Amino acid sequence: MNNQDETKVETVSKNSFNDQEQEVKTDNMSDQDKNTKEIKIEAKNKNGLGETWPEPIVRVQSLAESNLSTVPDRYIKPPSQRPQTTITNHQPEAAALNIPVIDLDSLFLGNEDDMKKISEACREWGFFQVINHGVKPELMDAARETWKSFFNLPVEDKEVHSNSPRTYEGYGSRLGVEKGAILDWNDYYFLHFRPLPLKDFNKWPSLPSNIREVTDEYGKELVKLGGRLMAILSSNLGLKEEQLQEAFGGDGVGACMRANYYPKCPQPELALGLSPHSDPGGITILLPDEQVTGLQVRHGDTWITVNPHPNAFIVNIGDQVQILSNSKYKSVEHRVTVNSEKERVSLAFFYNPKSDIPIQPMQQLVTSTMPPLYPPMTFDQYRLFIRTQ
Ligand code: OGA
Ligand code: NI
Repeated sequence: MNNQDETKVETVSKNSFNDQEQEVKTDNMSDQDKNTKEIKIEAKNKNGLGETWPEPIVRVQSLAESNLSTVPDRYIKPPSQRPQTTITNHQPEAAALNIPVIDLDSLFLGNEDDMKKISEACREWGFFQVINHGVKPELMDAARETWKSFFNLPVEDKEVHSNSPRTYEGYGSRLGVEKGAILDWNDYYFLHFRPLPLKDFNKWPSLPSNIREVTDEYGKELVKLGGRLMAILSSNLGLKEEQLQEAFGGDGVGACMRANYYPKCPQPELALGLSPHSDPGGITILLPDEQVTGLQVRHGDTWITVNPHPNAFIVNIGDQVQILSNSKYKSVEHRVTVNSEKERVSLAFFYNPKSDIPIQPMQQLVTSTMPPLYPPMTFDQYRLFIRTQ
């Protein structure tokens, strides 16, 4: 696991939100003179996240559209972190490598080879692609297209959904609140599907006219796929099929999505669409842009560019599954490169444990020779931990 604080902030639960509301009320009662709005703006939740960003927000899209010939300083990575200074599979010796592709139909028909393949993928890569996964290609295309259209709407239609670091829900252009931080070359939209009290259509875009309906249907299908994948991972770990899901809190699981928009970048060799990070949650199911590559997965000392298989999802293990598996399965670092020719859109769906139950290595995976590698921690505590470490 890495501790790239900035990219591990996909979700801030309603719990912290409620804590904050509580704080606001108390403040109000103890200091009647203060104006409520001011207190609210200054209030921070337990994670130290307030209502406002440390600097005025600049949409990466607006930079891309202003025909700059150079990247503004804020987006220039130090030399050692630039995409070209690290080895990639553009190097001939790694050229043949790609993440494993798993056929879920064949796996469900009991094909032992597929079970083995997926198990190896989780142990060695932390990443695989799935085909014949049961989600209709038409729905995948519709979801991708409606989000592409959203990002191509006029600015004023997007700004109404502008997000804050308190919950991250809505339209955003940065992660983390460190003043002066070097930023990634992307805009995004973050929203919740589950638990149901967190699903709030008012926090979803209202345009294009079909976006709520399509995204809702997409979310339901991906929650189902997430459940199926959990069952596969569970049996593959030698557990009962339902055990991993139960450890996640059964019906109380969380599900959210980040639609990522990577505009064209005038100097792609200096910037990154997303800095290296591992995903903090359970499992991630990514709908990539089929036309434009960009996702790279760390494999040893090498960054492997993922070539999306037609109609496939890219699945990766998150930190919580690494913890539950007592590190048998790996939550692997990945990053996104950008290019000067084409914009790129991806939908990252995060399937997470219920946020307030302790997550720790499954008892069956702990032995005298393989002691527990992690202390129990709720997903809420974990997010706080990785940000304050
Ligand atoms: C993410 C992520 C990869 C991509 O959103 O966490 O890693 O290809 N996205 O957009
Ligand atoms: Ni990620």
